[in-house]
Amino acid sequence: MKALTWQGKRDVQVQEVPDPRIEQPTDAIIKVTSSAICGSDLHLYEVLGAYLTPGDILGHEPMGIVEEVGSEVTQIAPGDRVVVPFNISCGNCWMCSRKLFAQCETTQNYDQGKGASLLGYTSLYGQVPGGQAEYLRVPQAHFGPIKVPGDHSDDRFLYLSDILPTAWQAVAYADVPEGGSLAVLGLGPVGQMAVRIARHLGVEEVFAVDSVRERLALAVRHGGTPMDMNDIDDVAEALLQLTDGRGPDSVIDAVGMEAHGGVGSVIGKAAQAAVGVLPDAVARPVIDKFAIDRMAALHTAMKACRRGGTVSISGVYGGEIEPMPMMEMFDRGLQIRMGQAHVKRWIDDILPLVVDDDVLGVEDLATHRLPLAEAPHGYDIFQRKEDDCIKVILQP
Ligand SMILES: NC(=O)c1ccc[n+]([C@@H]2O[C@H](COP(=O)([O-])OP(=O)(O)OC[C@H]3O[C@@H](n4cnc5c(N)ncnc54)[C@H](O)[C@@H]3O)[C@@H](O)[C@H]2O)c1
Ligand SMILES: [Zn+2]
Ligand SMILES: [Zn+2]
Repeated sequence: MKALTWQGKRDVQVQEVPDPRIEQPTDAIIKVTSSAICGSDLHLYEVLGAYLTPGDILGHEPMGIVEEVGSEVTQIAPGDRVVVPFNISCGNCWMCSRKLFAQCETTQNYDQGKGASLLGYTSLYGQVPGGQAEYLRVPQAHFGPIKVPGDHSDDRFLYLSDILPTAWQAVAYADVPEGGSLAVLGLGPVGQMAVRIARHLGVEEVFAVDSVRERLALAVRHGGTPMDMNDIDDVAEALLQLTDGRGPDSVIDAVGMEAHGGVGSVIGKAAQAAVGVLPDAVARPVIDKFAIDRMAALHTAMKACRRGGTVSISGVYGGEIEPMPMMEMFDRGLQIRMGQAHVKRWIDDILPLVVDDDVLGVEDLATHRLPLAEAPHGYDIFQRKEDDCIKVILQP
């Protein structure tokens, strides 16, 4: 089959690879019909190469038709249309029984000291072949895949794999009080969905922060109050001014380790570039133990959030000794919640919003639908935000 493989920094290629096969009785094979590119894939493309091996198949936002199931898989059958969560969880271990699916103890990567395995996401998370491919082996398929109806295009359901539950968790963790306000930093696919979900759940004032004009415009169409970083020197200060000097009750960081702006970003960018030229064996411990993140968005979140408010972090971070404004965080009495989305925990809440009517307007998110062969172009324009690119769906 054909699959999108990582080859090196900013180098992904579609190659011929062996077809996946059932390896465990809990596996399923799906024929992929759509597979999106995620902001998390951009971290692999740019910064986290030390944890990848040339030839690794990327992709963790797939859906398709079940081809074959292992002997212990009974919740889905060949012919079913399914979306596959990006985290691989067993559904019945200690963590899963507490709905902490991103920490599943059956698939946790104990050797790496990391949580549950993820599709297509580095040697830290199991080096499981991903879904930007014609076919995908789905481990723990007795639990993971979500059956969806046959009507509507893939767009309607595809984002259940990652960005919808991620954004839902971001808003749930943000814990905006009744009548309160929220700022969403970063208006990529995750931030876009966070704005919509917060508005849907009744948050009146959602400040939407980014520097990319078409992303700001899209957030405005869904009820966000735009804050264009091109026109604002200090986003935290501007947010305080707009909220009686207090700051929004809650702030979501939907940016992560490759944030633009701020002194920390200059240092982080230099660190990321330096790590990028080290041999992998040297780079790995450097990334794991030192400061490699660009912290501008996270610091803005800490400084903008009102005293006693909540910062909810969806953006992915990777270093260990990042300087944090501890005095400010402590003095302001912030609550902070973060982590990979526990995808299946939120599906019962979200599914009704996509099945009949498109309540969250998910069908307007994808700006590019490309054949798998053009996946490298998709990565390029998504990273550079060219051609008004907001979300790319690959159609093998
Ligand atoms: N926690 C999870 O389970 C989970 C799941 C999916 C994605 N993510 C992470 O969420 C983040 C966003 O993903 P995405 O797909 O939306 O990516 P994206 O790269 O398309 O979006 C990031 C956006 O942040 C903006 N930005 C950069 N610096 C900023 C700053 N200082 N302030 C405000 N905005 C800034 C960029 O212009 C861009 O629009 C990534 O870090 C990704 O890895 C986490
Ligand atoms: Zn993702
Ligand atoms: Zn489990």
